[in-house]
Amino acid sequence: MYIPVILGTAREGRQSEKAARYVLTEFQKTGTETELLDVRDYRLPATDASGESETAQRWIEKITKASGYIIVSPEYNRGYPGELKMALDMAYSEYARKPVGICGVSSGAMGGARAVEQLRLLAVAFGMVPLQQALYFPNIQDAFLESGETKDKEYAKRAQKLFEELLWYAEALKKARTA
Ligand SMILES: Cc1cc2nc3c(=O)[nH]c(=O)nc-3n(C[C@H](O)[C@H](O)[C@H](O)COP(=O)(O)O)c2cc1C
Repeated sequence: MYIPVILGTAREGRQSEKAARYVLTEFQKTGTETELLDVRDYRLPATDASGESETAQRWIEKITKASGYIIVSPEYNRGYPGELKMALDMAYSEYARKPVGICGVSSGAMGGARAVEQLRLLAVAFGMVPLQQALYFPNIQDAFLESGETKDKEYAKRAQKLFEELLWYAEALKKARTA
């Protein structure tokens, strides 16, 4: 089973990369095949809903192969970044009936909660199954040690809960899709 971690911002100096790399490292401990899908590597000058560009084809290949997704997104003006929307919009039916776990990031106290809520609505538009659980990284600038570990050890437990739920749905839905 392959479940990638999508990093939703290309911003220079982005703090969310620390959260995405942490989530990736923790998720690798479950033994699931994964990798970071960085929106920087899938940038388009304009929307490609045809799926014909080389960038869209690379994205669609990953999205098709996946049995579920983890999205790590910062909150920009109470929403998710446009770069993330453009990347997600390159595919459509390939997301259907697959679970998604969403992780929010912010420099403030909310942990990107409003972007997470908006991403849940977007997930429904794609026919994905958004998880009830989410992981929030508030005060991101102070959340990590140089080593990439979180200062708050509770993060690992919260992440495990999200992963357990994600894998439960990924396995159940994979069986149902192939039946
Ligand atoms: C354009 C822009 C808008 C932002 N809007 C919000 C916001 O609405 N709520 C919030 O909590 N933080 C907001 N922030 C701050 C981010 O939470 C902060 O940059 C944090 O480090 C996560 O984003 P990053 O990965 O780009 O660093 C905004 C940042 C940018 C660049």
